[in-house]
Amino acid sequence: MKSPSYFTAFAAVAVAALPHTAATTLPNNFSTRCSGLLQSFHPDQQTTVLVAEFLPKGSSFTNPSGHPSCVGGWVGPSILADICRLRLNVSTSSTSSVIMEAWMPANWNQKGRRFAITGNGGLGGCIAFDDLNFISSLGFATVGHNNGHDGDTGVPFSNRPGVVEDFAYRSLLTATKVGKKAVNHLYSQTLKKSYFLGCSSGGRQGLKAAQDFPEEYDGIIAGAAGNNWNNLMSSFSYYWKFVAGGNNPPILTAEQWVEWRDEAIKQCDKIDGVQDLVIEDPRKCKLRPEARLCAPGKTWISDKCFTSAQVTFLRKLYEPFYGNNGAFLFPGFAPGDETITSVWFATFAPQYTVDWYRYAILNDDSWTVEADFNLDAVDTANSIDPYNISTYKDLSKLKASGHKLLTYHGLGDGLLSYENSDRYYESVVRRMGLPSAQLDSFYRYFPIAGLGHCATGNGAWYIGAANQYTGAPATTIDPEGGVLMSMVKWVEQGIAPEKITGRGFTSDGQLASTKDHCKWPLRNKYLGGNPTKKSSWGCS
Ligand SMILES: *[C@@H]1O[C@H](CO)[C@@H](O)[C@H](O)[C@H]1NC(C)=O
Ligand SMILES: *[C@@H]1O[C@H](CO)[C@@H](O)[C@H](O)[C@H]1NC(C)=O
Ligand SMILES: *[C@@H]1O[C@H](CO)[C@@H](O)[C@H](O)[C@H]1NC(C)=O
Repeated sequence: MKSPSYFTAFAAVAVAALPHTAATTLPNNFSTRCSGLLQSFHPDQQTTVLVAEFLPKGSSFTNPSGHPSCVGGWVGPSILADICRLRLNVSTSSTSSVIMEAWMPANWNQKGRRFAITGNGGLGGCIAFDDLNFISSLGFATVGHNNGHDGDTGVPFSNRPGVVEDFAYRSLLTATKVGKKAVNHLYSQTLKKSYFLGCSSGGRQGLKAAQDFPEEYDGIIAGAAGNNWNNLMSSFSYYWKFVAGGNNPPILTAEQWVEWRDEAIKQCDKIDGVQDLVIEDPRKCKLRPEARLCAPGKTWISDKCFTSAQVTFLRKLYEPFYGNNGAFLFPGFAPGDETITSVWFATFAPQYTVDWYRYAILNDDSWTVEADFNLDAVDTANSIDPYNISTYKDLSKLKASGHKLLTYHGLGDGLLSYENSDRYYESVVRRMGLPSAQLDSFYRYFPIAGLGHCATGNGAWYIGAANQYTGAPATTIDPEGGVLMSMVKWVEQGIAPEKITGRGFTSDGQLASTKDHCKWPLRNKYLGGNPTKKSSWGCS
């Protein structure tokens, strides 16, 4: 049961009318206080309470989003802790609004009075319910938001700049401010520390917060960040249209992608001294697709070899995307997870590019990749850069705020190369004129070998990060050493992370490996011994 002081604090509003009985018999307990938010929580004119309900541990929950692309954001199992669930609609302009949820656990006061807010993915649009469930079970009052529109789609941007503005930064900032008010109101106490965690689009949101409004978060965790956003949106179509040749018929069949992925791993896996399906440092891996070129008279059917056109495609897949005048725009793909990379080479032009150009950049429904995408269009997108969504500034504000940023990126990320995070880190070194030893006081970067895009992978990929809770037996794992609790230690005890502990699993969810991932610019180094044990690895 909760302690008496917990109830005393809660009961500030109604306690005067109540007899002084034992705390547990007070009607003004957590669940009633929670449902009372419908009447009691009015932070401002812009905010409407849609739902306020107590959900006991073990109860079931259904993702309330009406958009089919969001339903995967809740795969259960069930509510992991006693929580107060608050759903709000916050208007951000005459044509835009944010839907947000706060999942506030009953044990918040004993768990350090922490606030956390999660990010989104893709062009979403979807509240990260799995993250809300897991992070609230660790005692954080946790907020999620729909980033200003429903669904992993750019259609709502059409002729509504307010929705684009929400997507670029305002939904996160708004949900943070309103979420903090809700937390302080529910518990009648002021929260102590505030955290952000997100991956992919969520990683970009984290960098945006670190660059522009770091005062809101004591600790920011940004994974696989999609900053350099406009060029990221363009790169999918550059590789699809100009490298794969528009892909009709597809440049590689599904079977050929699998074969090539296996070849890529074969060529690069052992560079680190261990054959374990993990390319420990893809920066050292120089693929040679020519090794699989068909000799005259040979074919895929006869020899599982590739044509000249396919080999040319595979060579260019890993090379950067350059624009007009040879300007660097975006890194090529990382090796080792090519079956995932293949999603950008489907029959149709990449939808993210289509939606971004049609609805956010040009307001032109008739725009197509096939007819209209070229390097001049890329220049246009970069010159418009709506609400500075490129997210490529330095971290002067973060440094001045005294707050912390931890970034990570899966070195096996086949959707969005780790090189984007490498490059951002090094650009901050140069722009701020600070070597790594000095950035370390507020910005640390951990490349994670064996992690794909945000979750899953062939190695010790589970690091207690955003979007990882559905893909692993997260609830059975001690969160210490993962990115979230390492950040908490850094912020609250001043103990900065030197390594991030990762775990790998067998296909049936048993723990298979543990590894401490090194802080950039150090790299994981095999020392000898059983490679599934962390004692077999060091940093150098
Ligand atoms: C909280 O109050 C409700 C009704 O007011 C009651 O049904 C419930 O048992 C109480 N819970 C606790 C934990 O005291
Ligand atoms: C949220 O509020 C806006 C007005 O500010 C309204 O247009 C919209 O329909 C509301 N959404 C929901 C889900 O209530
Ligand atoms: C984008 O950033 C620049 C430079 O920091 C600033 O001058 C400009 O106002 C920003 N634009 C928007 C729309 O936020």
